[in-house]
Amino acid sequence: MGVEDLLWGVFPYVVLTIFIGGHIYRYQKDQFGWTTKSSEFLEKKRLRLGSNLFHFGIIFVFGGHVLGLIIPASLYETFGISESTYHMVALLFGIPAGVATLLGLVLLTHRRVNIKRIKTTTSIGDWMALILLLTVVITGLIATFLNIDSAGFDYRTTIGPWLRGLFIFKVQPELMVNVPIWFKIHIYTTFALYVVWPFTRLVHVFSLPLRYLNRSYVIYKKRIPRDHVQ
Ligand code: HEM
Repeated sequence: MGVEDLLWGVFPYVVLTIFIGGHIYRYQKDQFGWTTKSSEFLEKKRLRLGSNLFHFGIIFVFGGHVLGLIIPASLYETFGISESTYHMVALLFGIPAGVATLLGLVLLTHRRVNIKRIKTTTSIGDWMALILLLTVVITGLIATFLNIDSAGFDYRTTIGPWLRGLFIFKVQPELMVNVPIWFKIHIYTTFALYVVWPFTRLVHVFSLPLRYLNRSYVIYKKRIPRDHVQ
């Protein structure tokens, strides 16, 4: 077994095992710590802008990854969408989404570093999640910018089938051998993120608050001091 087999055939499963096992462990051991760890009550204004930019950006980035890596290129060809059209649309939406995500993360980091009570309540896990997210988004953007030429590297015939193959246990490390280094770095920084993910506030991604939709209202009332009541 060669290095490439280890990097693209074995380690991805090690990472996936830690990711799934880590979530199960965390749920068993720390159900009450399963939270976004909101810091809204400590500071609101700067959180709103940074958090909105980050979350809207990341939803589009996620959608872009599904369209580019999970949906096979052959399906686009069936509908008459050429490689150059796909590439152009991917850049048109992908770059603004990536930049918004990055801007959001930079604002959130700035807020965390500069507001004392937020900095004090930041754990090592919070820093790791933030730094790794920054690294993943920056490396993704670098890989995208270096591949802006429509005749450049086609990740839909290499990274895409490699990734899909992992989910159906059809391991194909050979597809990754000639992938440009920035894409490889991007993927490995995401692996580092997946390893720490279950042990950070990022677990909140898997807890959609669906109960909010049909629970009864919680009514808040202002407390009027006795001597003001007439
Ligand atoms: C194994 C998982 C992943 C793979 C194989 C992967 C692969 C790729 C590829 C091929 C591109 C280039 C897209 C293009 O040029 O249009 C890209 C871009 C990008 N990736 Fe990933 N990625 C992964 C996970 C992630 C994650 C978890 C994040 C964020 C947390 C992320 C953030 C980005 C960003 C911001 C870009 C720049 C373009 C855009 O905004 O879509 N990636 N990634």
